[in-house]
Amino acid sequence: MSVATEKIVGKISRITGPVVEAKGMEGAQIYSVVKVGEEGLIGEIIRLERDLAVIQVYEETSGLTVGEPVYSTGMSLTVELGPGLLASIFDGVQRPLPVLFEKTGPFIYRGVEARALPSDKKWVFKPTVKPGDSVSEGDVIGEVPETTSIVHRIMIPPGHSGVIAEVKPEGEYNIDEPVAYLEDGREIKMYQIWPVRIARPFKVKLDPQEPLITGQRVIDTFFPVPKGGNAIIPGGFGTGKTVTEQTLAKWSDADVIVYVGCGERGNEMTEVLTEFPELTDPKTGTPLMERTILIANTSNMPVAAREASIYTGVTIAEYYRDMGYDVAMMADSTSRWGEAMREVSGRLEEMPGEEGYPAYLATRLANFYERAGRVICLGSSDRVGSVTLIGAVSPPGGDFSEPMTQNSLRITGAFWALDTNLAHRKHYPAISWIKSYSLYLQNIEEVYRERVAKDFPDLRKEAMSILQKEAELQEIVQLVGPDALPENERLVLEVARMLREDYLQQSAFLDVDAHCPLEKQYSMLNAIITFYNKAREALNKGATINQIFAFPHKEEIARMKLIPKEEAVQKIGELISRIVKDLESLEVM
Ligand SMILES: Nc1ncnc2c1ncn2[C@@H]1O[C@H](COP(=O)(O)OP(=O)(O)OP(=O)(O)O)[C@@H](O)[C@H]1O
Ligand SMILES: [Mg+2]
Repeated sequence: MSVATEKIVGKISRITGPVVEAKGMEGAQIYSVVKVGEEGLIGEIIRLERDLAVIQVYEETSGLTVGEPVYSTGMSLTVELGPGLLASIFDGVQRPLPVLFEKTGPFIYRGVEARALPSDKKWVFKPTVKPGDSVSEGDVIGEVPETTSIVHRIMIPPGHSGVIAEVKPEGEYNIDEPVAYLEDGREIKMYQIWPVRIARPFKVKLDPQEPLITGQRVIDTFFPVPKGGNAIIPGGFGTGKTVTEQTLAKWSDADVIVYVGCGERGNEMTEVLTEFPELTDPKTGTPLMERTILIANTSNMPVAAREASIYTGVTIAEYYRDMGYDVAMMADSTSRWGEAMREVSGRLEEMPGEEGYPAYLATRLANFYERAGRVICLGSSDRVGSVTLIGAVSPPGGDFSEPMTQNSLRITGAFWALDTNLAHRKHYPAISWIKSYSLYLQNIEEVYRERVAKDFPDLRKEAMSILQKEAELQEIVQLVGPDALPENERLVLEVARMLREDYLQQSAFLDVDAHCPLEKQYSMLNAIITFYNKAREALNKGATINQIFAFPHKEEIARMKLIPKEEAVQKIGELISRIVKDLESLEVM
C-alpha cells in the first residue's frame, strides 16, 4: 500500500475492538485510508457523519487511547501492481511479510510501513512501442520477464491514453524509473496503483467455457469449473477445505495463482510457505512459487484486515488477468471474512440480519464473486484473460443452511460440498457426489467430447446413475444384507464401490495420484464402466456374479490410480481389452 502526504485531521473519541471513532474529521472521505494513533495503525473510514469518522483498523488496536491523533492520507485502500508480485507473501494490506519480519519479528509490526514491491530490484524491460505510437488504456508498451514462467506485460493504466513521446531502450530499470513518457508529459512506470474495492475494468465479459483442469477426478469429471467461473467449498470442521484449496493451488492449470489465507490458523499458512517453494509446476517444470502470490492474514492477525486481504487478492488477480493470463484465486476461509463483517457491524450497532450478519452480507459476497470472469481485456490487442474464484466456507457444525453458505451458493456456479461422514470414513476428497453440483457442466462437457473422448460425458452420466442407484439400494442392504439382492444389483453395489474407492478417492499426499490428467481420468472411468457393461451382459447371458468376480479385474481396477501418468492410458487400455475379452468369453453353464 502506498500513502500520500499526511495531515492531522482528527482525534480518537472511542475505541471498540477493531473499530475506532474519531472526531474532527470533516473533509475526509468515505473509504479513504487513515493512520490511527501515534503508531499510525492502518485503517479505513467506513462511515462518516459530519466530523465523526468510524474507522475499521487493520492492525491490533490494544493500547490505543482516546485523544490520540488520526491522520488522513486522502487515498483509498490501494495496491501496487507491477513486477515483483509473483512469489511474494503479503499481509492483508499488501505489506511483504518477510520485510515485516525483518523489521520487527514475526508478530508485532503495528504501524510498520513496508512497500509492497521491491524498489531496489532491477527488471529487464523490453519496449514493444516506439515514439509516435498512439496508445490507450490496457495497451502493452513493454515486457518484463518476471519469472521463468510469466512475462509481465507493462500496460497503460485504465483511464489513460495518448501518444508515446519517448520510450526507454531495452535495459534494466527499477519500478520507480519511468519507462515511457506520453506527449503530454505523463510518465509511465512499470507499476500501477489501484483501489482494491473497485473492480478493474475490461472490454467484454465472455461466457466461460474453457475448463480449469485441476487434476482432481471428482472435480474435473463430475463437478467442473471453467476458467473465469466461481466455486465454493463448504465443509464442517476438519473435512478438507484447506487441503482441497491447497491441492487446487498446486495442480490447477491456471497461469497465476493467488492464495489468500483468511483468518485461518497460522500453521496452515506455514505449511504452504514451506511446501510451495519445493514444488514444481507439472505444466512448465518450473518452481510453483514462481506463478504464485500468497496473502496471509491468519487468525492471530486483526479481524478487520481479513476483508482487506480478500480485496487485495482479487485485485492482484484481476491485474494478471488484464495481461491476458488465466488466474485462479483461492480464499480459505471466506467464513472468517463473514465473521469479521459481523463483528464490525455489531460494533457499529447496525441492525443485524440473519444470525447477526449484517444485512449487506449478500451484496458484499455478490460483489466479490462477480469479480470472477473470463474477459476480453482492455487494450487494442484483444487479449483474453480470466479470474476464477474458489472460496472455502466453514459453516458451523457443517450445517449448510447458515447464511454464509446460502448467500455464497446463490451467486456461484459450482458447489463442492464436503461431507462430514465421508471425511470420517477417510473418503478424501470428501466431496459429496450427491450434494455437489456444477452449473457449468453442459458447456464443459462439449469441450471434453471434442478434446478427450466423445463418450466422456456419457461415462460420467452412467457413473452418476450407478452411484445414485447405490444410494437407493443402501436402505435394503442395511435391512437384509447384500447377499439377499439379485445378482444384477450386487453388481451395481460392487461397481459403485469401485467408483467411490478407485475413482473418486484421491489422496492429496500420494505423489503418483495427487494430480490425475484428464486422459487418465477418462481411461480409468472407461475401465470401470466397461467392466460394468460387460459384466451386465454376461449376467444376462446366464453367467454368475461369482464367475465374474473370479477374474483379477477388481484388483487391477483398484491399482489404476497407482499407474504413473505417462503409462496410464496405454496400461489401462490393455486392462480394458482384457476385461472385454474375459467377460465376453465366459463359459455360461
Ligand atoms: N484430498 C485429501 N487427501 C488426503 N487427505 C485429506 C484430503 N483432504 C483432507 N484430508 C485429511 O483431512 C485432514 C483435515 O483437512 P483440512 O485441514 O483440509 O480440513 P479443514 O476443513 O480445512 O479443517 P478446518 O475446519 O480445521 O479448517 C487433513 O489433515 C488430511 O489428513
Ligand atoms: Mg482449514
